[in-house]
Amino acid sequence: MPKAIQFELRLAERMARLGTETAFEVLNRARALERQGKDIIHLEIGEPDFDTPENIIDAGADALRAGWTHYGPSAGLPDLREAIAEEVSRSRGVHVTPDEVVVVPGGKPVIFFSILALIDEGDEVIYPNPGFPIYESMIRYVGGRAVPIHLREERDFSLDVDELDGMITDRTKLIILNSPHNPTGGVLSKRDIEQIAKAIGDRNVMVLSDEIYSRLIFEGKHHSIMAEPGFKERTILLDGFSKTYAMTGWRMGYGVMRADLAAHLARLMTNSNSCTASFTQIAGIEALQGDQSSVEQMRAEFQRRRDVFVAGLNRIKGFSCRTPKGAFYVFPNISGTKWKSKELADAMLEHAGVACLSGTSFGEFGEGYLRFSIANSMENLKVALQRIEEWTSEHL
Ligand SMILES: Cc1ncc(COP(=O)(O)O)c(C=O)c1O
Repeated sequence: MPKAIQFELRLAERMARLGTETAFEVLNRARALERQGKDIIHLEIGEPDFDTPENIIDAGADALRAGWTHYGPSAGLPDLREAIAEEVSRSRGVHVTPDEVVVVPGGKPVIFFSILALIDEGDEVIYPNPGFPIYESMIRYVGGRAVPIHLREERDFSLDVDELDGMITDRTKLIILNSPHNPTGGVLSKRDIEQIAKAIGDRNVMVLSDEIYSRLIFEGKHHSIMAEPGFKERTILLDGFSKTYAMTGWRMGYGVMRADLAAHLARLMTNSNSCTASFTQIAGIEALQGDQSSVEQMRAEFQRRRDVFVAGLNRIKGFSCRTPKGAFYVFPNISGTKWKSKELADAMLEHAGVACLSGTSFGEFGEGYLRFSIANSMENLKVALQRIEEWTSEHL
């Protein structure tokens, strides 16, 4: 009998630097507990619990029947790029043309491709911490130097401009902003944005402005650094359909950037996905140009849940929680419990039946916090509060 040969897996060295998103791991653990018969309330995953609005589903289904089942241009269908250019021009107060738009499968590829296109080994990228984990993962993957800027609770999780100023060096190539912010719900005001623009000044540094939650704001208005004088050609604006129109599974987002950089992102699309699904893009045109009332309904419902959930958390021993101004996350300070974030998140899942994320899933400066997604029904949120309260009063 031939001897069985064991081939060792010889991964590329860079794979050791690639991170992940803990939300999916916690979801898997929660599902495993459910299979054992446990009842879990899911507050770990950042996706709207609403269905995609009917008019968008109809547009997608009609598009499939009408033959939008073939490859399309790598940068996106011309009509969708036009619709996005119009929408961004109107909402951000900056003139955008279709050749400055690249349509990709979700918001995430804008992060992936921008970093691949701009960052060489040793280049520095300043990114928010706590923050969306994919930023650090991608910076490190391409060999860049990840430079975290600490978002502090006492500043309502907006960044300290003097600190930012002191971090920019000759090697800084990219600064990542995210407002409304995942995981804190912090929102950069017009004044914050103006000050950040002033701190960057006329240095040749690009800004990746992640605005995926731009329509989910509870107080004030959304402002983009792209509209600041001198920043149009230094900004990559990321937005998409996942959160605004509850379209996470359709996989569609976009980047807006100077046309020369857009051509390079389109080339990365040609090399990876070829194009974003054509029928999905037709549905995207309907999303942008059709009835917008569902967007406002979802926003108002998230606001109602936020108010109830934050008030409930503030009644729990050891928890203190600021009111987030945007997105659908609540980020309470749990240092009063004297527990480490990860251990408390694990205990919540295993003993209280509430799945949430440790603040450290979003970087080292997330220690002392938990993140709850409020993308679940009001009824379930109230049950979750009750379970957390019961468990903490017994164990803390
Ligand atoms: C800050 C931030 N940026 C980008 C994304 C990616 O969104 P998409 O699902 O469209 O790729 C997310 C999703 O959770 C996010 O929270």
